[in-house]
Amino acid sequence: MTQDEQKQAVAQAALKYVVDDAWIGVGTGSTANFFIDALAGIKSRIKGAVASSVKTAERLKGHGITVDELNNTGELAVYIDGADEVTAHGAMIKGGGGALTREKIVAAASRKFICIADGSKLVPVLGKFPLPVEVIPMARSYVARELLKLGGQPTWRQGFVTDNGNVILDVAGLSIVDPVGMETAINQIVGVVTVGLFARRGADVVLLGTDAGVDTRLVKG
Ligand code: A5P
Repeated sequence: MTQDEQKQAVAQAALKYVVDDAWIGVGTGSTANFFIDALAGIKSRIKGAVASSVKTAERLKGHGITVDELNNTGELAVYIDGADEVTAHGAMIKGGGGALTREKIVAAASRKFICIADGSKLVPVLGKFPLPVEVIPMARSYVARELLKLGGQPTWRQGFVTDNGNVILDVAGLSIVDPVGMETAINQIVGVVTVGLFARRGADVVLLGTDAGVDTRLVKG
């Protein structure tokens, strides 16, 4: 299977985790886009969706799927999203598309997190993909110096502004052997809005694309 076929296959497989008559959280990125397209086919079964980005909201609405604010829906039954890297334990790097803050909020407000990814995203140790960190603009240089102290090489994602009006530092050179510890440490830096490490609240289920089909690599709870 090609990478896109794998993305499509895991997106389709995620439909079985959609809860009837519920609000569901929907992620951002090319794999999430395949999921949105698949969700359109069963849209009458759900109340609607909470989007993790402006782009996702637009795509959902384009399919006639009801979109509402998280403040109106309360707790979500399930959140379905892709990842830039994922471990066998369900820890992830996210934010390659820059939507990490809203993704983390929607994930936190969801009972279950289903990660959908092609097989190339599975890694033994996180960190080869530069770790995105959303930062308040005036704190950019300060936060970059603090990230250097943690062993990373931060680069300002030039010309990119998040949906929340902030900037992103992409941190290369990290070998994240303790994802929960690293997430906690970066969260402590003043000026950081969100780190794209999803370890404290990782995935409950990882649906991975393989040549043989969809592999359910992890099930918690
Ligand atoms: C968006 O900000 C990211 O967290 C995406 O979930 C992640 O980059 C995966 O994207 P793809 O599905 O396009 O690989």
